[in-house]
Amino acid sequence: MTSTTLVTLLAAVVAYVLKVLLDFHSAVRSIRNHPGTRTVIDALSPIGMMVVTPIPVLAHGNQRSWKYKHAEYAELGYDILSSVAAFPRVNTDIFVADAAVIKEITTNRSRFPKPVDIYKVISFFGDNIVGTEGDEWKRFRKIIAPSFSERNNRLVWDGTVKIMNDLFEAVWGSKEEVTVDNSTDLTIPIALFIIGVAGFGRSMSWTDDVNPSSDHTMPFKDALHIASSGVFAKAATPNWLLNLAPTEHLREVKTAYPELHQYMTEMVQARRTAEKKVEQHDLFTSLLDANEDEDDGQAKLADSELLGNIFIFLLAGHETTAHTLCFTFGLLALYQEQQEKLYQQIRSVIPEGRIPSALILGRSVFYETLRLFPPVAGVPKTVAEDTALVTADSFGNKVTVPVLQGTSLVLNIAALHYNPRYWDDPHAFKPERFHGDWPRDAFLPFSGGARSCLGRRWFFETEGIAIMTMLVSRYKIEVKEEAEFAGETFAERKERVLRSKRGVTTTPVRMPLVFKRR
Ligand code: HEM
Ligand SMILES: *[C@@H]1O[C@H](CO)[C@@H](O)[C@H](O)[C@H]1NC(C)=O
Ligand SMILES: *[C@@H]1O[C@H](CO)[C@@H](O)[C@H](O)[C@H]1NC(C)=O
Repeated sequence: MTSTTLVTLLAAVVAYVLKVLLDFHSAVRSIRNHPGTRTVIDALSPIGMMVVTPIPVLAHGNQRSWKYKHAEYAELGYDILSSVAAFPRVNTDIFVADAAVIKEITTNRSRFPKPVDIYKVISFFGDNIVGTEGDEWKRFRKIIAPSFSERNNRLVWDGTVKIMNDLFEAVWGSKEEVTVDNSTDLTIPIALFIIGVAGFGRSMSWTDDVNPSSDHTMPFKDALHIASSGVFAKAATPNWLLNLAPTEHLREVKTAYPELHQYMTEMVQARRTAEKKVEQHDLFTSLLDANEDEDDGQAKLADSELLGNIFIFLLAGHETTAHTLCFTFGLLALYQEQQEKLYQQIRSVIPEGRIPSALILGRSVFYETLRLFPPVAGVPKTVAEDTALVTADSFGNKVTVPVLQGTSLVLNIAALHYNPRYWDDPHAFKPERFHGDWPRDAFLPFSGGARSCLGRRWFFETEGIAIMTMLVSRYKIEVKEEAEFAGETFAERKERVLRSKRGVTTTPVRMPLVFKRR
């Protein structure tokens, strides 16, 4: 290398570093040096998302919000924190745990739209309601929202009752005690079968559908589950590596997507060519029906958009539900007095042996679980025009944080749910806090505003209540006794059983439970 090239190269490096430093400085100034982290790697960039634990100076860490919850906000004295980073580009992320500010953000879609680019990973079957903004989103929401109807709700309820009865009769049978070493192994199939029947109009059961039909290499239920849980693996793995499929998991992920695509296409075809239409109210059928325009018979959605949205029902509704159920069972096992109260309430409402009917019952147990373990611990937004967020410091003084167009925002649901300003003794499990009045704007497991969860009431709350009532009325849930943990204190046991990590959604690490027949 000649010395001139070397000098040119060096000059370019120096110029780059200077530019980054200047940009960084002006980014910090633009938010008036609002407290938070200053790191090399941007937390919300693809590399930043791969760094798990916080590394001082270098990386914010993708588990940070879940790990510290509200602690950092309390320490620094603000419910808004900043994170300025230099790489891959100078970027400012603003994390919000102030309920009023979050409300302002969720209720003004034009000023704080979704960052659709980071949702590309969920759009490989086609554009969909979760991954779009503006008019495109509006069009999707208008067609999709009516699918969550009273009739679909009936199907959710009946389907859940049948699936739970099957579990008790065909799988658990006459066993007095059932031990499940990792309770997601129980809650994942439950949630999957429900989304199968009420989402896709396909009954699956505990025993059948293990062998794929002749033109498939994977059973429908496996394709459904792996395509949903493998979303990050699929997004993070380059295609050439996925094709090589070096691990068993990647091999399954590689197979699951084309398989699910084929299943969904067949289902659309079968419904379209059916001689006479059977009346069905699963989400899939309702969406197909809504898609046909009454006037001219023209489809409102392109086929890829149809599949994209159907896949979203699965993605949005499967793991969120399964993990929430798992945490609920774990909490009830740890807090026996709460479980007993719930059991007594269930018994007082439902005569023994009958199917549960009171929907409101136990809702507070689910809400408290969702407060403590929000499946979606951070909701991303962006800033469409220069604006400002107004919060208060811990002394109650007004603090204005200017935010420029293009800033990334994160609604930090974990920090909001553990914010002592809204929740007394926030780490404690107290379902009673949801009786009577509670701070609604500080409870956002389903996000808020126009883009909040469509599956909340008619789908999730219905299946959740049905599952919990049926299970608790027949079985007592306990933590599995294991010799190696014999001497632990309640606090240690609680810590161990409820340990969680961030995956596609907040995930239990290992929850060993025993279900004892009452
Ligand atoms: C415990 C259960 C659930 C939780 C915690 C949950 C949470 C959420 C959250 C946080 C969002 C906003 C996501 C974002 O802004 O990126 C969302 C949206 C959505 N959820 Fe749920 N969800 C649950 C169950 C379900 C179920 C069972 C379904 C359907 C079967 C469903 C369908 C949807 C849909 C379609 C959207 C998109 C709404 C829009 O963008 O207009 N969810 N959910
Ligand atoms: C959203 O914010 C803009 C300012 O950018 C304001 O003009 C508008 O009224 C707000 N919309 C709502 C619904 O609050
Ligand atoms: C328990 O299940 C969760 C969620 O499916 C999984 O991530 C975890 O690795 C499992 N733990 C063990 C010990 O198998």
